[in-house]
Amino acid sequence: MKAWSGRFKEQTLGDVEAFTESISFDKELAIYDIMQDFAHLEALLKANVISKESYENIKQGLNEILDMINSNIMDWDIKKEDVHMNIESKLYELIDEDAKKLHTGRSRNDQVNTDLRLYLKDKILEVFRLLKALKQSLIKKAIEHKDIIMPGYTHLQRAQPVLVSHYLLAYKEAFLRDSQRLIDAYRRIDILTLGSGALAGSDFALDRFLEASILGFSKISRNSMDAVADRDFALEYLFSLSSIAMHLSRISEDLIIFNTEEFKFVELPDAICTGSSIMPNKKNPDVLELIRGKTSRVYSSLFNLMVNLKALPMSYNRDLQEDKEPIFDATKTIIDSLKMMKIVIDGIKFNKSIYTGNLLLATDLANYLVEKGIPFREAHHIVGAIVAYALEQNKVLELLTKEELTKFSEKFDKDAKDIISPKSSINRKKTYGSTNEDFVNKQINISLLEYNID
Ligand code: ARG
Repeated sequence: MKAWSGRFKEQTLGDVEAFTESISFDKELAIYDIMQDFAHLEALLKANVISKESYENIKQGLNEILDMINSNIMDWDIKKEDVHMNIESKLYELIDEDAKKLHTGRSRNDQVNTDLRLYLKDKILEVFRLLKALKQSLIKKAIEHKDIIMPGYTHLQRAQPVLVSHYLLAYKEAFLRDSQRLIDAYRRIDILTLGSGALAGSDFALDRFLEASILGFSKISRNSMDAVADRDFALEYLFSLSSIAMHLSRISEDLIIFNTEEFKFVELPDAICTGSSIMPNKKNPDVLELIRGKTSRVYSSLFNLMVNLKALPMSYNRDLQEDKEPIFDATKTIIDSLKMMKIVIDGIKFNKSIYTGNLLLATDLANYLVEKGIPFREAHHIVGAIVAYALEQNKVLELLTKEELTKFSEKFDKDAKDIISPKSSINRKKTYGSTNEDFVNKQINISLLEYNID
């Protein structure tokens, strides 16, 4: 018999049961559902809705179910629809009549919302820790590659020399913002919605502050209709995961390119690459390609929930059951991808001689002329002509002689040759946050402290 079948004269069709069930995926929330049951039980006792005896009985039953869940022996049944009903009917099997009292003053609408918030709070902390570990790996790799210079790119065209450590720390910044975004989302997830009932609140004087303190929520919701209808806390979470996926995808793309025969900037560890079943010469960066590819799953989850929520009337609607699979899928994808990316970063090696001279020092030459009193636009033009000349001569800028330079401007002095070196280009940078070794070292030192790295 179904918990809600009192008013029904016919049995639910088997196909309808299969269509409406959610136990096949919401069993992921089982632990949180039990935690919530314990908190609700305390509130029921405090409100004198149940006797101490029933309370003890239910508590004992819930503990048994918790053990069954932890040891993976719960027999989930789609006839019981969802995780909430499955647990309730197991409780009935175990303790009989008292089990029927646990759902007093509660609806599955506030129940599922509370479960989801408990789940997300846990997952945010897990993702936060994984992000921290990845940032630590990036910092360590930056220290390891402190002296290597690489061409920096804009438009995927060689632009200016930068330190490899500067490049690696750029991603540390991006992942730092992702961590901050998660913590910000956490603030709006960390709200107890239990006690909102189906939509109008509960007829029983449940102490919601007590429930919040048992479950570790720092605030309680203020409007029961909004509480059961709201899923934008989950949207924020999915957006934060999407941003992580986007950054993971961008660094993957970089490393896939850097690993090509054409670039040869990095060496990927064999342990994370795979071969080809037909071409014996291949060592493919499949892990990075999959991290990049899985970004679409995370984005889809965000869009999935956004579209689900659009135009839903106030308050709870069954459409909301569809929120779970995208959330679970995005969560697993991000956790796995972050773990994989850490392995890649820990194992990657940047080659020492990535930087090869060509035209990357043109801006330095122009700025040299500015220091000699020529307005920047004019200097830009003069150096443009030098670049055209170097291309004609098939020479890198570093190889131009002082005589060749003075043909374009008398302002080129004997010190002009000194600045045409990648190292000088890097250390000529004077702004905070630039690739100048001093500034990069400063960032490394700050990071060492921030991330507890010895
Ligand atoms: N399985 C449902 C969900 O995930 C639980 C809430 C059901 N509420 C209801 N009024 N049918 O949303």
